[in-house]
Formats: sequence, structure tokens, C-alpha cells
Amino acid sequence: MTKLPSSTRTIPEVSKVPRHIAVIMDGNGRWAKQRFMPRVMGHKRGVESLRETVKACRDLGVEFLTVFAFSSENWRRPADEVSFLMGLFIKVLEIEAGKMHRNNIILKIIGNRSQFDDKLRLAMEEAERLTANNTGLTLTIAANYGGRWDVMHAVQAMLQARPELAQGFSEDDLQPFLSMSDAPEPDLFIRTGGEQRISNFMLWQLAYTELYFTDTLWPAFDRAELEKAIASYQHRERRFGRTSEQVQDPSDKGE
Ligand code: IPE
Ligand code: IPE
Ligand code: MG
Repeated sequence: MTKLPSSTRTIPEVSKVPRHIAVIMDGNGRWAKQRFMPRVMGHKRGVESLRETVKACRDLGVEFLTVFAFSSENWRRPADEVSFLMGLFIKVLEIEAGKMHRNNIILKIIGNRSQFDDKLRLAMEEAERLTANNTGLTLTIAANYGGRWDVMHAVQAMLQARPELAQGFSEDDLQPFLSMSDAPEPDLFIRTGGEQRISNFMLWQLAYTELYFTDTLWPAFDRAELEKAIASYQHRERRFGRTSEQVQDPSDKGE
């Protein structure tokens, strides 16, 4: 049989509880509008949902939680909403970092930081530094992140570090330069707010992730909603290209 081309997408051990959950926290503005409040109040309330989701993930034994907080396209929003969001990031990082540290959580931020102001960049660095040696759940916040940016940035960084690869390279060569290269790829993707699209979130890393969409708006998302998403995940058969029969046969690793 011909050998498969080298791929970083080795078939992972599939556990009952997803090791890595990626979330598009969408629907904040609509949640606020439904309550006749300004959109930004939805963002504020969304922080509570994140807090609850982190706690629930920790209790359930999820190892990595990655959340989309601000996309590279969200700069297109009205200036006052963007500046509210930036202020909220700083506040959350300053207030929550200490709490996360006490809860043994590792906080990481992915995305292009060069467009953020110094105060926010500093708050990000401080929070990461404070929690770097923890050993519990890894919470990664994607801010000014785009899946295409991630791949382009990785290619550029790889070629800078290893110019000889301009002649040709494999997924294994690129992998270490991508965001979240030290985490397993997400097992479960959740998008709240009813839209069924990826919106330039982790395009590379979601290749074989199970997708779950819910109409629940992010500020209304809670532990019970998370458990529903995980229950849905537990009914999926993750084949990674194999047949169902192969998946049922534990001796067949499909390699
Ligand atoms: C998601 O909620 C949060 C961010 C994009 C920052 P939205 O603000 O997109 O809320 P809707 O989709 O308009 O309801
Ligand atoms: C995606 O939500 C980004 C975040 C949740 C941060 P959007 O609400 O910006 O997505 P689109 O533009 O409707 O696809
Ligand atoms: Mg939205």
C-alpha cells in the first residue's frame, strides 16, 4: 500500500470529554437589543458567561478552552463599540488574571497584537506571565485573530527561521509556527447566536473538529448549555477518514 503523505493530522485519542473546546461567543449585541439595552451591555454580560464556561470546563476535565473575543474583521464595527471592547479587555485582564492564577488557570492570547495600544498589550503580557507556570485548564483568548492571518503569519515566521524551506515544506514543518501549536486541535467547536459559519476562526486547526451550533445567545450560555453541546459531541462518530467499521475495531489505527 502506498504510504500516506506526512500530515500533522494524526488520529488523536478520542476521549468522552473533549480535551479542547473552541467557542465563537456570538450574539451579545442581539441579547442586549432584546432587552432594550445598548449592544455593549451584551459584551459586559458575556464576560459572566465566559467565567461560568471556564468553571464548568474545569469541573468537567476539559484541558483547553479557546474563545474568539475579537476577530480581525471586528475593527469594522462602530468606533465606540470597538473602544468599549478594548476597555473591557483591559478591565477583564486586570481583574480576572489574579483570579485565574488562584484557580491554577493558564491564560494565553493569540492574534495580531501589533494593532492594540500599549496599555492593552501590557495587560496581555502581564496576565500571560502571571499564569504561565500554572498546570490547570489553558484558556486561550483569540483577539484580533483571523484564521487566514494565522496561516500566513506561520508561513512567514517559518521561512524567516528556516529559509531553506522556501524550496518546499510539509505540514510538520509549518505546525510549530501556527497559533496553539502546543495544544491538541479542538475536538468540539461551539458557536452561539444562531449563525452557522466559521467567521475566519481557527481555519487550520478546525479541520476535523466536530461542529455544534446553537441559537442561544452568548450572554445566555451557561453550564447546562455547555453540557448539551458536550452531549451532542459524545454522540458523534469521529472517523478521520476511516470507515465506521474501522472505528469500531480498536486494533485498527488506520495507519
Ligand atoms: C459577539 O457578539 C462578540 C463580538 C464579536 C465581540 P456580537 O457583538 O457579534 O453580537 P451580535 O451577533 O451582533 O448579536
Ligand atoms: C465572530 O462574530 C467573532 C467573535 C465572536 C469575536 P461576528 O459576529 O463578528 O461574526 P460575523 O461577522 O457575524 O460572521
Ligand atoms: Mg455577531
